Amino acid sequence: MPRTVRQRIVGALAKMYFKVAGRRLRQELGGGDAGGSPQGEALLRRAAAEGAVLLENDKTLPLTRKFALFGRTQKDTFYSGYGSGGDVLSPYHVCILDGLIAANAPLSECVRAFYEDFSAREPARKGGWGDWDFSNPEPAVPEEILNRAAEETDTAVVVIGRASGEDRDLELEEGSYFLSRGERALLCAVEKKFQRVVLLLNIGGLIDLSFLDEFHFSAVLVLWQGGMEAGGAAADLLLGKVCPSGKLADAVPMSYSDLPTAAYYGSPARVEYKEDIYLGYRHFETFAQDRVRYPFGFGLSYTAFLVTARYLGGAVEYCVRNVGTTSGREVVQVYVQKPGDSPARELIAFHKTAPIPPGGEERGRIPLEKRLFASYDAALHAFAVGGDYALYVGTDVRSADMVSTFSLKREIVEQLSPIAPPPLEEISIPARTGSHTLSDVKRGEIGLEEFCAELGLDDLEALAYGALKMDSPLGAPGNAGVMGGVTPSLRARGVPAVTMTDGPSGIRMRAPCSLIPSATLLACSFDEELLTSVYALVGREMAKRGSHVLLAPGMNLHRTPLCGRNFEYFSEDPLLTGKLAAAAVRGIHSSGAAACPKHFCCNNREFNRSRSDSVLSERALRELYLAGFEICVKESRPRFLMTSYNKINGVYAHYHEALVRGVLRREWGFEGCVVTDWWMRRGKRGGLKNNAYRVRAGVNVLMPGGTYIGKGYQYGGLKGALRRGRLTQDELRKNACEVLRAILPFVTGEEDVVR
Ligand code: BGC
Repeated sequence: MPRTVRQRIVGALAKMYFKVAGRRLRQELGGGDAGGSPQGEALLRRAAAEGAVLLENDKTLPLTRKFALFGRTQKDTFYSGYGSGGDVLSPYHVCILDGLIAANAPLSECVRAFYEDFSAREPARKGGWGDWDFSNPEPAVPEEILNRAAEETDTAVVVIGRASGEDRDLELEEGSYFLSRGERALLCAVEKKFQRVVLLLNIGGLIDLSFLDEFHFSAVLVLWQGGMEAGGAAADLLLGKVCPSGKLADAVPMSYSDLPTAAYYGSPARVEYKEDIYLGYRHFETFAQDRVRYPFGFGLSYTAFLVTARYLGGAVEYCVRNVGTTSGREVVQVYVQKPGDSPARELIAFHKTAPIPPGGEERGRIPLEKRLFASYDAALHAFAVGGDYALYVGTDVRSADMVSTFSLKREIVEQLSPIAPPPLEEISIPARTGSHTLSDVKRGEIGLEEFCAELGLDDLEALAYGALKMDSPLGAPGNAGVMGGVTPSLRARGVPAVTMTDGPSGIRMRAPCSLIPSATLLACSFDEELLTSVYALVGREMAKRGSHVLLAPGMNLHRTPLCGRNFEYFSEDPLLTGKLAAAAVRGIHSSGAAACPKHFCCNNREFNRSRSDSVLSERALRELYLAGFEICVKESRPRFLMTSYNKINGVYAHYHEALVRGVLRREWGFEGCVVTDWWMRRGKRGGLKNNAYRVRAGVNVLMPGGTYIGKGYQYGGLKGALRRGRLTQDELRKNACEVLRAILPFVTGEEDVVR
């Protein structure tokens, strides 16, 4: 479709805007090493390269010869996914082509010119909210250009791209989970003319890779979605400036139907997790080894490593030796096979080495606590060990070598109780008079409970709601919502209005902010320190942009590759998810901001997300879907947490007293503030309904504060419940304490003066 004059003007204005915005970001955030500074850019470029996974290579990569770059995604690169988790107003993007041009890559000029011209004439489309386009129509390359390019070189690189987003899952259709006709035609045309074809995948989560059987690729590199520095990172990898070290955070099946969840994607209303604890590689390694295309943890390098390990007294000692010719990094992965009805392999630890020069080595020790060997015994409601174990160490789940077998005596490592609402606690926070401010609490002049006891009912109620809408005037422009000091009365008591912004791909607000690589990419880095550094950078930008809380990291497991938000989430594995989320939270905290991990829990598809019920066993909940959150909460102590939209075993997450009051708070010791995902479905239990039911469940704040999903304005309802004796004032004060405890670190003292 030819571009209209209007489209051209809009395009030119947008370009100008980003140029100016880029300069502004540099000026505004350029001090120190936030985004926009040379250090920030270098970090994001390094991060985007660290998670790329090399699946095949017959030594064609790194590229040293001239090559022809095909596929419109080289220009229309997907930097992130769509929706709240990807919609960052990034000041600039480096597409794959521009990254290569800037690196002086020896590109075929006629092919480059063809795509530059095409992409200027037919801009990529994104689609509207929840109606996202997964891919862009691929143009047919004229025969004459193919021939000219084939005369210049025998090597072609083809980029295939996909994106998905919130509120829309991928579909089992061409151009979505499968190759489009245009992409297939392009691959056929290129394969005919070039001896070597390198495939680059610019995707947010796994798509169907069975077409790898139809074509012969000399190399396959999964770039994922690399954020605003994606193009530079792609160039670094392709040209050999960076040695690939990413590892798959999900097993790649032979085909969709091989997935253990394929048949249980679910009806509109109900998703039965019949695969139970056998998700992803846990299923494949136990029951269907031959249905795996690439195993979990797999990824090639430009160099070669020799990994040796032994298990000694509660720790694995490893040695990684670089026996190749290039400096590179490797990931040591530790798996266990537990006795009884358990997956044949479970990841229990990993470590990414520092860059090791050729001939060099790294030695180290990975401690393993007993809890890592425990399985959840649903009959006893306990994590227990007992029986024969085998330990494997290696560089992917399949090739990991057995390093030890041992027996453990039957022992309960952690006694828990059934996942059920805990008995109502006797709380006593009697009302008192006083007019202290939250700064007085911060200064230690009065306790938090005493302060809450001084608050009137209106204040207590207001603390249970956000400031009604997104983009609240009380917060920085483009915020996702504001909570805390949402009324003049609360602000008069020194309670700051707390600005929340999305995550996880950077700060989503109306100001240029760094767009970081997608979570799937970051997960494949297997690099906790990297996650901490990247999110520390985001945290520094938050301080400058006026955001207190980042609605991130996204922690739902990749239960199905169709989930539209997989780009926001890390992996199918809970340990990797939990460790990386904890690292991200530490990064955000390091700059004084706060993280809000989400969505607690079992939001594993987008389709009908605010009505569907995730139905699963207690063991699958404990060992998989809660396990990542548990690690994150225990290791990094986030002060906020967001519930999910869906039901879990019949109860909406925002009413799930058993999970929120029971597991999260009582078992794991979470002391902070739990917020709903944006708006909530109505519900009731006994005499409690809607917000009173939510507060009883331990979900402190309805975000953004007004309107239910679907219909109706909603604020209040708590005082009515008090009047009817369904909720007590003590409970409301306790709710306020939980909210204010999370907010307290944001109190500067200035609130007392400036209101
Ligand atoms: C998403 C959340 C997001 C929130 C605010 C919701 O639709 O599910 O992840 O943080 O909106 O934008």
